[in-house]
Amino acid sequence: MAISSHNFKFIQDFARDTAAIVLDPGKEYLVESRLTPIARQSGFGTLDEFVDQLRTDRKAVLFHEQVMDALTTNETSFFRDFHPFEALRHHVLPRLIEQRAGVKRLSIWSAASSTGQELYTIAMLIREYFPQLRDWNITILGTDLSTTVLDQAREGTYSQIEVNRGLPAAFLLKHFTKNDTKWTIKDDVKKMVEYRQMNLVKPWPIMPVFDVVFIRNVMIYFDVESKRGILKRIRQCLQPQGYLFLGTAETTINLDPEWSPSMLGKATVYQTKSAAVPAR
Ligand SMILES: C[S@@+](CC[C@H](N)C(=O)[O-])C[C@H]1O[C@@H](n2cnc3c(N)ncnc32)[C@H](O)[C@@H]1O
Repeated sequence: MAISSHNFKFIQDFARDTAAIVLDPGKEYLVESRLTPIARQSGFGTLDEFVDQLRTDRKAVLFHEQVMDALTTNETSFFRDFHPFEALRHHVLPRLIEQRAGVKRLSIWSAASSTGQELYTIAMLIREYFPQLRDWNITILGTDLSTTVLDQAREGTYSQIEVNRGLPAAFLLKHFTKNDTKWTIKDDVKKMVEYRQMNLVKPWPIMPVFDVVFIRNVMIYFDVESKRGILKRIRQCLQPQGYLFLGTAETTINLDPEWSPSMLGKATVYQTKSAAVPAR
């Protein structure tokens, strides 16, 4: 179904106002291909009729959620990009364990956690390589805009294709149970993780203070001002010696001078300049 330029403009504004997502001119094909199935399913004969309904019925919350779900990219996988998890295992967690031994508390946040693979990767790493953390108070929080992806994350159930992407066979066999064609993460790991809905470009609730923040492959879709605002707010909820991980195509450079990047193994990590101890 084709979209008129007038309605494409409406969807551009809607995506920007709702989630700071930038849909440049030329992305009409993307909007058409992603919204056509929703329009059809909801009984509309054309995409323009569907968008007219969105425009006139500001209370059509379900439509709004479906449209934002369709416009966002939820692509993720276990051990995505590999190196950040190596840095976490070999550098970041050992340092934090040393620093926090007195309080035995650690907190990790995956902002834009999608269907949960990123956080379950972290939880499995902790179970696998840091048995000494069993009696620590560990918070592992995942947030995302989309309630659809959060539902899957909470359920922790993945297709064969999803578990084939990046998850070592030993982890699959140890931490998942198979039901029919699907794999579900076991309770021992699942109960380490909590998921909440949160829009990164709207006012944030009061956040705990984190030791590690993963915010990967989401700011790439945002305008510069939104990226700046988010990086600043993360500084305010990160421990002074905490660590930030971004996606491989993302950086703080030219956005927020208060962050300083360094390499840990083959991964780039960011710490605030106020970190008393620089990254070793
Ligand atoms: C490409 S996925 C990244 C998942 C994971 N972090 C990774 O790197 O594999 C991007 C996620 O960002 C979420 N998202 C998009 N806009 C958002 C916003 N304004 N606030 C919170 N999450 C958002 C999407 O719903 C999607 O699940």
